[in-house]
Amino acid sequence: MAEAAAGKKVIVKVKRQATPKEAAHWEEFALNWRPSMNVIICLRDIAENPVTSDGKPTTPITYDSNCLEEICGSCAMLINGRARMACSALVDSLEQPIRIEPLTKFPVVRDLSVDRQFMFESLKRVKAWIPIDGTYDLGEGPRMSPEVQEKGYPLSNCITCGNCLEVCPQVNDHNGFMGAAIFSQVRLFNMHPTGKMHAAERLKAAMGHGGIEDCANAQNCVKACPKGIPLTESLAEVNREAWRQALFGWLVG
Ligand code: FES
Repeated sequence: MAEAAAGKKVIVKVKRQATPKEAAHWEEFALNWRPSMNVIICLRDIAENPVTSDGKPTTPITYDSNCLEEICGSCAMLINGRARMACSALVDSLEQPIRIEPLTKFPVVRDLSVDRQFMFESLKRVKAWIPIDGTYDLGEGPRMSPEVQEKGYPLSNCITCGNCLEVCPQVNDHNGFMGAAIFSQVRLFNMHPTGKMHAAERLKAAMGHGGIEDCANAQNCVKACPKGIPLTESLAEVNREAWRQALFGWLVG
């Protein structure tokens, strides 16, 4: 802690917005540097002592976080203009002042907290789950080949952070494109031996409003994904499956 004691500072600028309707404004904070500090630690330090760098008392910053290890997906925000997870954004790797803003593709609830409901509604639209009747013992599930497991595992790492929607020019108020994460889940559940039973329904939803046809192949999504999910591959595959179904009415598999 010698360097902290030596007075090394971290300068952080946060875009604040008290309510969804209120205008946003920026506040700057000068925090004491500590080793291995990440952006969540900065926000916690501000909560402990909510005073701006020019000495004005303010309120703690509202933000979402939970797991602190890039698993829950809740802490996505814009950090120095880039959509990323606050819990894995290390201060020492960031240029200062560190600018922290809420994601722009979702309505702001307050400060850095946004309402991701659009994404969860989209997952519901494409039935991104495997329906299991839990009222009686179904026995063992079908076996999955190692090839399918290998393909599916990276897709199952999606943390629904919304970064891929944030960077996609097609996710806007005009076309309602659901975003790469959603189609990647369609691919995941359609390749599952039980999930396949509802593949046609998922593809139908993927061809509806805001569906796969609205993808303009910008390929920003795959670069922004914190879990390295092959999103462009998923988009291409779902597009192929959707066309196959539209033209020939084939069920996948
Ligand atoms: S707190 Fe869960 S992903 Fe960052």
